Amino acid sequence: MKQALLELMRMSRICRMVLATCLGSFVLVIFYFQSMFQPVMRRNPFAADVCCPKGSRNALQELYNPTQSEFTGAAFLHQTRRDQVAETCRAHSASSRKRRVLTPADLKHLVVDEEHEMIYCYVPKVACTNWKRVMMVLTGRGRYSDPMEIPSNEAHVPANLKTLNQYSIPEINHRLKSFLKFLFVREPFERLVSAYRNKFTLKYNGSFHKRFGTKIVRRYRRNATQEALQSGTDVKFQEFAEYLTDPATVREAPLNEHWETVYSLCHPCHIHYDLVGKYETLEEDANYVLRLAGVGDYLRFPTYAKSTRTTDQMTAEFFHNISSQQQRQLYQLYKMDFLMFNYSTPSYLKMQ
Ligand SMILES: *[C@@H]1O[C@H](CO)[C@@H](O)[C@H](O)[C@H]1NC(C)=O
Ligand SMILES: *[C@@H]1O[C@H](CO)[C@@H](O)[C@H](O)[C@H]1NC(C)=O
Ligand SMILES: *[C@@H]1O[C@H](CO)[C@@H](O)[C@H](O)[C@H]1NC(C)=O
Ligand SMILES: *[C@@H]1O[C@H](CO)[C@@H](O)[C@H](O)[C@H]1NC(C)=O
Repeated sequence: MKQALLELMRMSRICRMVLATCLGSFVLVIFYFQSMFQPVMRRNPFAADVCCPKGSRNALQELYNPTQSEFTGAAFLHQTRRDQVAETCRAHSASSRKRRVLTPADLKHLVVDEEHEMIYCYVPKVACTNWKRVMMVLTGRGRYSDPMEIPSNEAHVPANLKTLNQYSIPEINHRLKSFLKFLFVREPFERLVSAYRNKFTLKYNGSFHKRFGTKIVRRYRRNATQEALQSGTDVKFQEFAEYLTDPATVREAPLNEHWETVYSLCHPCHIHYDLVGKYETLEEDANYVLRLAGVGDYLRFPTYAKSTRTTDQMTAEFFHNISSQQQRQLYQLYKMDFLMFNYSTPSYLKMQ
C-alpha cells in the first residue's frame, strides 16, 4: 500500500510536466490499485442487433489520421479545441492544491457504444436526449432504427444504455484507451438558464419543484407564503442563483446534473476527450461524429424545433435581474467551463 502511494506521488509529479499523455496513465494506475481493493464489476451480456455496421477503420483512427480529405479541416478544428482543454487543465492544476482521483462512480455519465468503439459523456441541457436516442440506435438497444421514434422518457431509462462504471477496471482502462471519447458543451450561462426555465418555470413535472423548489423558497425567500413553501413552483431566478452560490449547497451534496458543471460531470482534466462538440454548431459537430464512426450514410443527427430554445439574449435578461455580486459568484462557479471550452465572458455581466 505504501509503495502504491509512493508510485502515485511520483506519477502525479510527472503528470504536472506532461499533462495530456500522462493523464491517461494516471487514471490507469489509480484503477489498477483500486482493483486490488474492490470487487470486480460484472458485465451485462450485450444485445447483439445493431443498426449500423461500423466502417473498416475505427472512429479514433479516422479522427487522428483522416483518409477522407473532407475530414482534414474538422480534424484541425478539433485539435485546437483539445489543446484549449489541455492548456486550461494544466494552468488549473498548477494553481490548485486539490488533487482529485477518479473512481468508477465518476464514470456514470459516460455512455458506451461497443460496436462503434465510442464513449459519449452526456451533459444535460446540451442535446443530451437526442444523443441518448442516437446511442440507443447505434447500440441496438430497444431495436429502433430512427432516433425520433424513441420517446424522450425512454431515452432516459438508465437500463437502455450502458455506462462505463458498469465495467471491470481492466475493461474500463481498455475502453478509455482505444475508444473515441466525446462530449457536447454549451455556453455555460445559457445552459444554466435553460435548466432553470425547464425545471422551475414549466408546470409539466412537479418533481423538481418538490425536491429543489420548496427548499429554495424556504431558505432564500423572506415572508414566503404557506402555498409557496409547500409547492415550490414559483422559484425566481434570483433565488435559484442564491441557492447555487450559497457555500452550504455544495457542502450538502453535489449539484444536480442539470446545473452541475461539465468539469464535474465529465472530468475533462482526467479523461482525455478526443472530440469536443458544441451546441452552437450541434448538427455539424454531431454529424461529424457519426461520419467518423462510419455510420453517416445510415444515420443523421435529429434536427430540432428551435422555437423554445434558450438564447443568448434571453440569458442576458435573466442575468440583468441578479446583483453584480451574484453574477461574479456564478461566473466563478462556472469558470472552468468558460475557459476550457473557449466561451468568452458574457458582455452583459457587470464584473468590475
Ligand atoms: C476561441 O474563440 C475565439 C473567438 O471566440 C477564436 O478566435 C479562437 O480561435 C478560439 N480558440 C480556440 C483555441 O478554439
Ligand atoms: C416526472 O418526473 C419523474 C422523475 O423524473 C418521473 O418519474 C415522472 O414520470 C414524471 N412525470 C411526468 C408526468 O412527466
Ligand atoms: C415581512 O413581513 C413583515 C410583517 O408583515 C414586514 O414587517 C416585513 O417588512 C416583511 N419583510 C419583507 C422582506 O418583505
Ligand atoms: C426580472 O424582474 C422583473 C421584476 O421583478 C420581472 O418582472 C421579470 O419577469 C424578470 N425577468 C426575468 C427574465 O426573470
